[in-house]
Amino acid sequence: LVTSPRIFSNYTARYACLRASPLVCPNQALAAELGVLYLHRDLEGKAVNALGYQRAISVLKAYPRVITLENFDTEVRHLPYIGEKIQSKVTYLQHTTSSHPEVEQIKEFIRFGVIEECQTIRASERFWSLKTLTSVHGIGATTARNLYSIGLRTLEDMERYYDVPVADDGTLKLEEEEVIYTPNGKRIPRQARLPDLSTKAALVLRNDLEASISREEVEEMHAVVMAELEELQPGCVSTIVGGYRRGKLQSNDVDIVFSHSDLRSGGNQVKGLCRKLVQRLYDRGLVTHVTHLSGFHARDAMRTSHWDSLEKALTIFILPSDGTQKRSHRRLDLIFAAPEAYWTGVVGWTGSKMFERDLRLWAKVEKGMKFDSSGITRRHDSKKFFPKSELEVFEFLGLEWIDPTLRNA
Ligand code: CTP
Ligand code: MN
Ligand code: MN
Ligand code: MN
Repeated sequence: LVTSPRIFSNYTARYACLRASPLVCPNQALAAELGVLYLHRDLEGKAVNALGYQRAISVLKAYPRVITLENFDTEVRHLPYIGEKIQSKVTYLQHTTSSHPEVEQIKEFIRFGVIEECQTIRASERFWSLKTLTSVHGIGATTARNLYSIGLRTLEDMERYYDVPVADDGTLKLEEEEVIYTPNGKRIPRQARLPDLSTKAALVLRNDLEASISREEVEEMHAVVMAELEELQPGCVSTIVGGYRRGKLQSNDVDIVFSHSDLRSGGNQVKGLCRKLVQRLYDRGLVTHVTHLSGFHARDAMRTSHWDSLEKALTIFILPSDGTQKRSHRRLDLIFAAPEAYWTGVVGWTGSKMFERDLRLWAKVEKGMKFDSSGITRRHDSKKFFPKSELEVFEFLGLEWIDPTLRNA
């Protein structure tokens, strides 16, 4: 990764979308130690406190030098979200906590190489249990705390609680596919309903779903999906986004944004295509489960605060075995954008999450625009803008170009 001074010239910026944040930074160990404090607050449901640490970590990731006691006092403690409260013209940009534990904790790390509170957290049974329980796909911090409060501590406790069937050889089994009947007893054909990833199934598949995915396998999955899509609708275009595009060597899942190359079609070629592709992948045995599948206008089940209106499917995918290697189930997210929304889709799904959070904030506060993956809207007259390239998205929002590999805020 290139770490020239020019690239880091904006590391004092308050907005993550103005900072160049490499995948690996000079203060990686400090970021990881503060990451323990972030995770602890997050698991305990202390959202405001967790965000404070997340923001401090994000700022440190763009700092171009190893932090020492000297540069900490002269420079680092004055960076946004780390030191004293900086007066800002907008209230929601202000740090919400009145004290700044980060300052003392970072000093502690510089002196001793560890933060005492992290040692305490790492020694806590509750922390490890909540971390373990949330490692199962679909189990969030709130559910984990509830499971903990009724006595669950380990994945084995969870297997018993969710009644996961164990085979004679001790391995866990996926249940036989359920046959679904309507209230009047009519059997719904298999094709009519894609199986959800239940907590039970997520437990059985947990070793697969926890394992990281090499870039090579990400590319292989992408090629297989594109070949199926080409049969269904020729002329589609796609970009692998998410952590892969930011340069991660190992991904937790695969995210792909699709559209059609024919700009004049007005999106007709992609309308409904997400559902058709998922059905086809399911029929081929490539998709085994679906955790979310939206229609074109659905603003449904997903209760995240900024869920765009693009057609999308969150699935579990497995490459066909070629007989020599055992394949693993992988999480695969498919996002479909109409041609004019392709580049906002690509920017909106490349991440990181902090980069996206501040991109939306920057657009709103500084530019009077609403940014989301499905387009840019001017707030005062609701006029929509659709940039024709990724660079145009940045230019339109008045941002300097930041390469995807430097969006690891
Ligand atoms: N994203 C979003 N809104 C969501 C979900 C995802 O804007 N509700 C965007 C985020 O910008 C995120 C990207 O899509 O960075 C991909 O999400 P995800 O796969 O969860 O994270 P990655 O950054 O790809 O990291 P990982 O390797 O853990 O998958
Ligand atoms: Mn991802
Ligand atoms: Mn993820
Ligand atoms: Mn994803």
